[in-house]
Amino acid sequence: MTEAPSIGALWRGWRDVLSRLGFASASLDAKLLTGHALGLSALELATRENEPADGAAAELVAKLLQRRMTGESVARIIGEREFYGLAFGLNGATLEPRPDTELLVDLALGALPAGGRLLDLGTGTGCIPIAILANQPDAHAVAVDLSGLALEAARANAERHGVAGRIEFLEGSWFEPLATSPSGRGEESMGLFDLIVSNPPYITSAVVETLAPEVKDFDPRLALDGGPDGLAPYRIIAAQAANWLKPGGWVLVEIGFDQGAAVSAVFLEAGFDDVAIHTDLNGLDRVVAAHHI
Ligand SMILES: C[S@@+](CC[C@H](N)C(=O)[O-])C[C@H]1O[C@@H](n2cnc3c(N)ncnc32)[C@H](O)[C@@H]1O
Repeated sequence: MTEAPSIGALWRGWRDVLSRLGFASASLDAKLLTGHALGLSALELATRENEPADGAAAELVAKLLQRRMTGESVARIIGEREFYGLAFGLNGATLEPRPDTELLVDLALGALPAGGRLLDLGTGTGCIPIAILANQPDAHAVAVDLSGLALEAARANAERHGVAGRIEFLEGSWFEPLATSPSGRGEESMGLFDLIVSNPPYITSAVVETLAPEVKDFDPRLALDGGPDGLAPYRIIAAQAANWLKPGGWVLVEIGFDQGAAVSAVFLEAGFDDVAIHTDLNGLDRVVAAHHI
């Protein structure tokens, strides 16, 4: 009978496999997936290095690592990703929340008045409004997505982070579900918002095809493709946002690093004021802010 490998030998073996295949994060990936399969935290993985891993556990680790070898991300395999200090559950219809988007949450927390209401368009996991509500206990939100499956993940995430009582989820395209909600449109139905936020799909259709397999093959196309010039969702948001904003309200949209000028122009042409581009920690254009006065 062959001796069971130790937990340490197990993850290191997979690290070496990933490393040979050219995975830059081989060590971290192998540790995270081994820890996940064995139900061990990073600390437990380190302190229980010399314990034997039983055969069933080793098989499970192998299954997860084989998925990683196809290019699927660690977060997708584990089924959740951290954003703004909170863990967000994923499913096949949700984009993985990205650290780039945390700037949008920072700006939103600065723009939302006490007791404010916000609208999130294209909510995915619900990471943006849930992070905002978790940090502003008197705020309320409406969150829209075209994907009913994505909204299932968002609802579960809202429950998990204790904000489900302050957020309403609507299925449909951009502003449509607000306008067709049972009580009709405007101030007496959904009410107007202090802030509209969105991280819409903004990659041009042609570029989507060239993305890394981790993104192209596993992130949902609906979450990525912003049309032929990547600006289609911004045009819709800019054209209709003023109907749903209180006077003095703001729109904050995430953008691609090379879209600052084009997205700013879309909002200026739609009549917004104080249009500004905000850069992220890498100095890249990341958010456009537009004021409705
Ligand atoms: C780039 S993802 C952003 C998800 C999430 N807000 C985040 O930041 O991680 C864009 C989201 O927009 C949704 N979406 C795409 N087209 C839409 C539409 N016409 N109406 C509403 N949501 C849409 C997608 O399903 C996806 O969840």
